[in-house]
Amino acid sequence: MSTNPSSTVAAPSAGKHSTDKDRIIIFDTTLRDGEQSPGASMTVTEKLKIAELLEQMGVDVIEAGFAIASEGDFRAVNEIARKVKDSVVCSLARAGRADIDRAAEALEPAARKRIHTFIATSPLHMAVKLQKTPEQVHEAVIDSVTHARRYCDDVEWSCEDGSRSEHDFLCRCVESAIEAGATTINIPDTVGYAYPEEFADLIRMIRNRVPNIDKAVISVHCHNDLGLAVANSLRAIQAGARQVECTINGIGERAGNAAMEEIVMALRTRHDILPYSTRIVTQHITKASRLVSATTSFAVQPNKAIVGANAFAHEAGIHQDGMLKDAGTYEIMRPEDVGLIRSSLVMGKHSGRHAFRKKLAELGYELGDNALTEAFARFKTLADKKKEIFDEDLIALVDDEIQATDQQIKVLDLDVHCGSRPKSLAAITLEIGGQRREAQAQGDGPVDATFNAIKQLVPHSANLALFQIHAVTEGTDAQAEVTVRLEESGKTVNGQAAETDTILASARAYVTALNKLLVKREKTAPAALSA
Ligand code: KIV
Ligand code: ZN
Repeated sequence: MSTNPSSTVAAPSAGKHSTDKDRIIIFDTTLRDGEQSPGASMTVTEKLKIAELLEQMGVDVIEAGFAIASEGDFRAVNEIARKVKDSVVCSLARAGRADIDRAAEALEPAARKRIHTFIATSPLHMAVKLQKTPEQVHEAVIDSVTHARRYCDDVEWSCEDGSRSEHDFLCRCVESAIEAGATTINIPDTVGYAYPEEFADLIRMIRNRVPNIDKAVISVHCHNDLGLAVANSLRAIQAGARQVECTINGIGERAGNAAMEEIVMALRTRHDILPYSTRIVTQHITKASRLVSATTSFAVQPNKAIVGANAFAHEAGIHQDGMLKDAGTYEIMRPEDVGLIRSSLVMGKHSGRHAFRKKLAELGYELGDNALTEAFARFKTLADKKKEIFDEDLIALVDDEIQATDQQIKVLDLDVHCGSRPKSLAAITLEIGGQRREAQAQGDGPVDATFNAIKQLVPHSANLALFQIHAVTEGTDAQAEVTVRLEESGKTVNGQAAETDTILASARAYVTALNKLLVKREKTAPAALSA
């Protein structure tokens, strides 16, 4: 492996958050762009928990939300601003004063805060979406950055759809944003259209043509519509960008954002051609991936780089043989470097709480005392029902527990009669806002009857877009992991639950999705705030 000096460029001025010219600022937007993924929604408590882990990981900037989007977003930014001390806490704001005022209000308690304001600069977005002339957009850039600087000295400005913007106009806006006080200039590839070399050229062009560019850090924000988000971000770093915007597991609008774990591990593993560093404690990567996946009900695909279940698995005999001789034969990273521990701890009905906690830690989970107690009780019930407990069982159980915490609606009891009779009958007891409520319903089969009964207690007009059952392990005593996706007025939510009883898992997954719908209903229509 050889270094290619011609592919790296001299580093730009480091800006106020860098301590060295080759340090890459990691800006995590899991809680903002990530939450904009169709199906993802997080409560304030869930966001806070993720933010605390991001801080522990060494994330430089946490974009905690879009303060004006909803009361929930405002509270999330505000709570995170109170709690997080080591990372800069950031809120997104459109280029209007009301958005900026709301962001500033939410960020008020932060030890270190940033306002991130944006406006689209591409001809298509300006004409069709904003219905503004380039002159009006240019004025809005100056006004928004100037206004944001009244509240804090750390202001990021983004040119939405930057990669499809006309170069002269883009350079003019960047120069004016810096002149108005922006300390970070973010160039998004909003629609994931850029090609790595072309995107690197865009960054070089901005560095060469904008006279005051050395007064700001250049950032990139790449979407993954063509699967190029990470490649584009890395190429942009080589061209002089010093901040990367990314999300855990690559979640985000449409095909998602650049995945943080991939960028960080690429920089670390290929330091020979990417001689840049981050502050990320990579050993927290697996934990963060599991927490985000469990919280959002977004399963990580098994072959996903770095955090997929198969990322460090070797099945072919020839590979296993090589691995036994020297792990370097087929592994370019050590699993422990991303916090994955190959464990020999076998769990069964006699395992105690201490062993259970240790095993979860090895799998990448860290539960608070209450959640641990609940999860341990469920583990004991499972161990009574199931002969062997595999790691997959524990992962399904804990993911389920993470989602079930903090829910307004809970399943307390379910009784189902089904079989060869023409209609199935379900009787369900739910707890709704602390009150016990019961209902009965018939249906075509036990799942239909159960969902009908739930709908009597929680009326809604959401459409069932997906109902999926997957056996967590082999055997008839396996846990069924059920995923339910609901759609209501353009909003999508996912719920997931695992139980050895498939109908109970279905009821709980459905109720989890309804809980998420309650959170999502609060948000302003996505089209109005699309970013
Ligand atoms: O994709 C995008 O352009 C964004 C901006 C708000 C940074 O998310
Ligand atoms: Zn985005």
